[in-house]
Amino acid sequence: MREGSPALVRAAEGLRRTFGLSPGVSISRLFAPYRVCPIGAHVDHQDGVVTGMAIDQGVAFAFAPRTDTHVRAASANFSGLIEFNLAAIPAAVSGDWGNFPRGAAAALQRSGRRLTRGVDLYLVGELPVGGLSSSAAVGVGYLLALEAANDVQVSPEENVRLARAIENEYVGLNSGVLDQSMILLSREGTLLELDCRTGARRYVSFGERPEATSGEHTMPAIAIAYSGLSNALVGTGYNQRVAECRDAARLLLERAGLPVPDGGARLRDVPPHVYETHAAALPKPLRRRAAHYFGEQARVAAGARAWAAGDPTCIGQLVAESGRSSIDNYECGALELIALYEALLAAPGVYGARFSGAGFRGSCIALVDPDRAGDAGAHVRDAYLRAHPQYAVTFGFFRCAPGPAAHLLS
Ligand code: GLA
Repeated sequence: MREGSPALVRAAEGLRRTFGLSPGVSISRLFAPYRVCPIGAHVDHQDGVVTGMAIDQGVAFAFAPRTDTHVRAASANFSGLIEFNLAAIPAAVSGDWGNFPRGAAAALQRSGRRLTRGVDLYLVGELPVGGLSSSAAVGVGYLLALEAANDVQVSPEENVRLARAIENEYVGLNSGVLDQSMILLSREGTLLELDCRTGARRYVSFGERPEATSGEHTMPAIAIAYSGLSNALVGTGYNQRVAECRDAARLLLERAGLPVPDGGARLRDVPPHVYETHAAALPKPLRRRAAHYFGEQARVAAGARAWAAGDPTCIGQLVAESGRSSIDNYECGALELIALYEALLAAPGVYGARFSGAGFRGSCIALVDPDRAGDAGAHVRDAYLRAHPQYAVTFGFFRCAPGPAAHLLS
């Protein structure tokens, strides 16, 4: 995010206004981007391989370190003031955005960091909430602010683990590391292929191996279509699906006479030939979850190759297949999100589309011919709102670009 960008300016103004800071108090600022994930849906919590990148939109934070251990936070997007003391962090409250600052402080303390200074903080999110990992961006921002205020050095990799702990251990969502990794480890202009088990990363530039395809090599535009539907993931079927994947993994290992790892099985523990041999014995819903995982892993590998080749048609097709598998095999789409997905696929110039996040609410991502993005947006608005007119005010269609990882501004 650039110096002087409207969200940063609004965040600094909001901080002064809300907490009555005197003009002499020095204000720190940071930016935590949203992420997109073209392929690799719902495989991170099974320790699979994903693709994604940070985008040039996200959450701007302004904060001022305090001399005591109080934390106060306010936001342009959420109502109410969050207040707590680092010496006695209250338990999570279902659906409350205050879970993220409290969870960030709790995760840092549990990692052995001594936090002696709280912060006053104000945040401004740039796009409507949902499907772009806004929760993770907010969590990462609080971690970075508390670390800066307390002069604590934490590597981006450890911040990924801490940010995941906010969700897994404090909020109660059994998510993987997709969101936090893209927010913290992305390199502007590249697609990150990440192994969620080993942490191995590969940064792939679009068209870096042009000889691999004969077609055109223009990078598709990234578009976000927001359904208007927002609700916290913790109240959806997200955790149930994670549990089903784990059950499928355990049953497959048991069938093959393989040991089930301590701490529970993940689909990553299942060798592909074991899945192929024993999938038919799984109960139907679990068979579908496993089919999604193994299909998605093949699409991730093919997608990274297509990105390197600079082949928008091929990658678009894989993105659309990923979306179809989320609906048919993973069975996670809200009706609105499915309607949006269908509308995007029928729109002019769209190479492929799928749910941007978990699919229970929020947005879809589409890869679009840059010259036809305007027409695509108009088509989708029309088709989607015809079926769901109640979202006429909240629906949105935005273009975004790859962006940098989360960072402090000097
Ligand atoms: C949400 C979760 C991620 C990931 C995606 C689906 O964004 O926070 O960990 O599981 O859904 O791919």
